[in-house]
Amino acid sequence: MKITEGMLRADALKGKTIVVTGGGSGLGKAMTKYFMELGANTVISSRRLELLQETAKELEAETGSQCLAVQCDVRDLAQVEAMRDAALAKFGKVDILLNNAAGNFISPTERLSANAFKTIIDIVLMGTINCTLTFGKHWIANKQEKGNVLNIVTTYAWTGSGFVVPSACAKGGVLAMTRSLAVEWAKYNIRFNAIAPGPFPTKGAWDRLLPGQLKEDLDISKQVPLKRVGEHQELANLAAFMVSDFADYMNGECVTLDGGEWLRAGQFNNLEMVPSEMWDQLEAAIRSTKKG
Ligand code: HXC
Ligand code: NAP
Repeated sequence: MKITEGMLRADALKGKTIVVTGGGSGLGKAMTKYFMELGANTVISSRRLELLQETAKELEAETGSQCLAVQCDVRDLAQVEAMRDAALAKFGKVDILLNNAAGNFISPTERLSANAFKTIIDIVLMGTINCTLTFGKHWIANKQEKGNVLNIVTTYAWTGSGFVVPSACAKGGVLAMTRSLAVEWAKYNIRFNAIAPGPFPTKGAWDRLLPGQLKEDLDISKQVPLKRVGEHQELANLAAFMVSDFADYMNGECVTLDGGEWLRAGQFNNLEMVPSEMWDQLEAAIRSTKKG
């Protein structure tokens, strides 16, 4: 068994139609590819139509499943509604929405204009809200048997993080919406879950979070307890399980997939730097306190 292998049985998503925002690149593309390998019809959307069309063609050839490319800026509700209509026209129904599209860049917050802050909030939080409302209202109005929303967040949605503050605010909002609607819309049999990935190298993220020399200077895998970054297939495996009917009882959950990265904050984790030969000395010192 390899971490780069698919995990689920071949028909796990057969007959499902899955909309993936930001599905033309990076993690969205990797998840879309695996959904298609498992038999799903997919709709990928983002702003770059040419890239989407190339991706759809490539994934159809590789998997034998269908992929519809639809240009859609998630900030614009009218475009999201048009994307929903295109998906319905092609496949008749949509079963699953994967809110994956995002915008982000590192910057000291005092350097940000109001518009820079707003741009990230609009893509990540408002974009996720626009898509969720559009598909959710459709499912409710049509009394669809079930609906399913998976949101991609990050671990700083709950820890917060400097230098990516607009993204942290927006992802925190997405997580709050995930947990809120998991309860409110359970009566419509719509499930809401989230995944918080740790570092998974993609061009989109690395160009904006580790620009220029930072890529060489900052070995991101060193800050992960397991000392490696994630493999795209590992995320695709988890996402496929969470959107599949095998996870029908999972609702309101946020699953972290980060090699333990965010828990590094634990107060004594720095003791990792104590050499093993020093532990005899330290143990003796601790035990001796009992005598005094
Ligand atoms: C300061 C900046 C800036 C920078 C843009 N702005 N880049 N300010 N530092 N580096 C400002 C602009 O000057 C402008 O403000 C405002 O932000 C909007 O910029 P535009 O270029 O007009 O926006 P737009 O064309 O909509 O592009 C959005 C974008 C871009 C977010 C800036 O990077 C993008 O398209 N990103 C999409 C893909 C992406 O970001 N992928 C990475 C996701 S990774 P003014 O005031 O001048 O008008 C991720 C990982 C999370 O989320 C967790 C990792 C562990
Ligand atoms: P990516 O390739 O840059 O993906 C972002 C996608 O969002 C792109 O396909 C982009 O396409 C789309 N997008 C951006 N603005 C949009 C808009 N206004 N409307 C519609 N689509 C838009 O980066 P990634 O690393 O794969 O990120 C995917 C997701 O994983 C994001 O939610 C990110 O926050 C999350 N994440 C990534 C990591 C990581 O280490 N890579 C870690 C934690 C979380 P267009 O430019 O064509 O619009």
